[in-house]
Amino acid sequence: MGKTYFITGVNRGIGFEIVKKYLEADSSNIVIGTARNPSKATELLELESKYKGQLHIIQLDVSDLKSIDSIDSQIKEVAKDGIDVYISNAAYSAPGAAKKVLELERQIWIDHYIVNVLGPFEVLRVIKPYLLKKETKHVVIISSLAGSLSQNFPISTGPYGQNKAALNHVAITLSHELSPEGITVVAAHPGLVDTESGREVLKEYVEYKPELSALLNNLPFDKITQEESAKGLIDTVIDPLTKEQNGKFLNYDGAELQW
Ligand SMILES: NC(=O)c1ccc[n+]([C@@H]2O[C@H](COP(=O)([O-])OP(=O)(O)OC[C@H]3O[C@@H](n4cnc5c(N)ncnc54)[C@H](OP(=O)(O)O)[C@@H]3O)[C@@H](O)[C@H]2O)c1
Repeated sequence: MGKTYFITGVNRGIGFEIVKKYLEADSSNIVIGTARNPSKATELLELESKYKGQLHIIQLDVSDLKSIDSIDSQIKEVAKDGIDVYISNAAYSAPGAAKKVLELERQIWIDHYIVNVLGPFEVLRVIKPYLLKKETKHVVIISSLAGSLSQNFPISTGPYGQNKAALNHVAITLSHELSPEGITVVAAHPGLVDTESGREVLKEYVEYKPELSALLNNLPFDKITQEESAKGLIDTVIDPLTKEQNGKFLNYDGAELQW
């Protein structure tokens, strides 16, 4: 039997690919995908007309509380039987955010924090009653290895890495707070993925810190496509997720990562 998925930031990148795969996988899957500007999400709109009744696009800007509050009225009909899996995917790193910590303006830190840390759980506040209607009750927070303190990366990833570290903390806390209600929460690293923003961020690191180019050309892990990332996440993290994995940090190949 199909499942109902709620996924943020799906007009491009990894989110788009996850949506596509769930629609192709099972004609009884229902996907509610969010976009900041649905009318401009050309490829997503094409999917919506191909998978009529299966894909539902809603407008959402996770930095805007009014927009978050509007989720409920946008999904109450399509999700009236509940949501099985919430995938928090939307995130960003603004141009210029790879500057050194002491050089970055305060507002840039704040703007990133609102989108990348507050957004994922403020959306969950609205989605939670829908998760409780289902048996599955899974929350997958797309984080990043850039937020892993045990990696001790020799590069500053600006607000992005700090945000993902904070988001990992949120995931752990939620896993404790929500487990009595049967909700399973994990954080997942999608790999180093060749998406538009993935490329931009790497380009910036080199622009602001040219000494990094050698390091970035010899990364200790492979760069993967968004198809490989989405397939790995679905096959090894999202679909086989169990309650015993509550509070874990998982790689896109299913391996457990260190916080
Ligand atoms: N690519 C990588 O190598 C990599 C590595 C580790 C972790 N990740 C994580 O994987 C996830 C997806 O990354 P990606 O590479 O696919 O990124 P992407 O291609 O830049 O897509 C990001 C998505 O988030 C949306 N978004 C940004 N700000 C938003 C806001 N305020 N409200 C709502 N939606 C917003 C974007 O919408 P717009 O089109 O409107 O901007 C877009 O749909 C992110 O959480 C990212 O941090 C990626």
